[in-house]
Amino acid sequence: MRFVVIGPGALGCLFAASLSADHKHEVWIVDHNQQRAAILARDGISLHNETIVKKCPVRATSNANEIDAVHCILLCVKSHQVQAALATNRAFLHTAPLTIAFQNGIGHLQTLATELPLGKWGVGVTAQGANLIGPGRVRHGGKGHTTLGFLTPPQPDILNNLQHIATALTEANIETTTDEQINQKIWQKLLINVGINALTASLDCTNGDLLHSPSSCQRMRLAILEGAAVAAALGIPINHEPVSLTMKVCRETATNISSMLQDVRNKRRTEIDAINGAIVHEGHRLGIPTPENKALVQKIKGLENSYLVDSA
Ligand code: PAF
Repeated sequence: MRFVVIGPGALGCLFAASLSADHKHEVWIVDHNQQRAAILARDGISLHNETIVKKCPVRATSNANEIDAVHCILLCVKSHQVQAALATNRAFLHTAPLTIAFQNGIGHLQTLATELPLGKWGVGVTAQGANLIGPGRVRHGGKGHTTLGFLTPPQPDILNNLQHIATALTEANIETTTDEQINQKIWQKLLINVGINALTASLDCTNGDLLHSPSSCQRMRLAILEGAAVAAALGIPINHEPVSLTMKVCRETATNISSMLQDVRNKRRTEIDAINGAIVHEGHRLGIPTPENKALVQKIKGLENSYLVDSA
């Protein structure tokens, strides 16, 4: 199969490397940065597991229109980059039979619904841990399940297509299933990110470290419960108790540096608006108090303001 990964971040590189390893599939990376695309095309991706480093060949370009007949696009840019990625690659995205969007949070879902052809895009929710060590160099930081699904039911042939993609990912060591209730999975993951990401980024600690401090555990709990109250008001069933589930994720990804802490350490814009910011926004709309999430948003915005150059 021919896969295209848009966005060479940690998750994009993990997926691209896993799918292309041992020449299983042809994988293209689309990177808006031409210089980095040239490096990826020349060197491929190195995938670092506990003990081994595997070189995985990929093709790379900053012009998606030069790629022929693709089976599936994995959109792996950050939530706040979705709009720009859709604008830059609009023509290409409209020719693809299926695009799967892998972002944390919920802020970008409306943008996807507005910009992409109805029934030809799905959502991926993953608990894979991945850290970017350098351009095209990714460390697999802990295996987790990946779920794919559609927010709006598509045609049966597209559903079959999604199943094929799930199988290809599973065979590539990314255990994946499809789910008709993907919105529940999106919210389940959102509440995990609400509890872990901003706290680890503001305390500069690993996911596992959060469990060693009673005050961090308490703040995690408060932030998640505010999010769960918002989900309940929206009528979204949360099947697993979200606080203990988040603690389990902290244990399973104990040494992982959360994606938000990676962003802060690398002085990049974070996904705070799509995660805790989304809870504050929805809470405000629904009349549900969200003080802990507000405090986390304020803290992360303060960090971002200290290193982001004013682009105004
Ligand atoms: O964003 C992340 O880092 C991940 O979603 C998670 C599950 C918090 C693990 O680090």
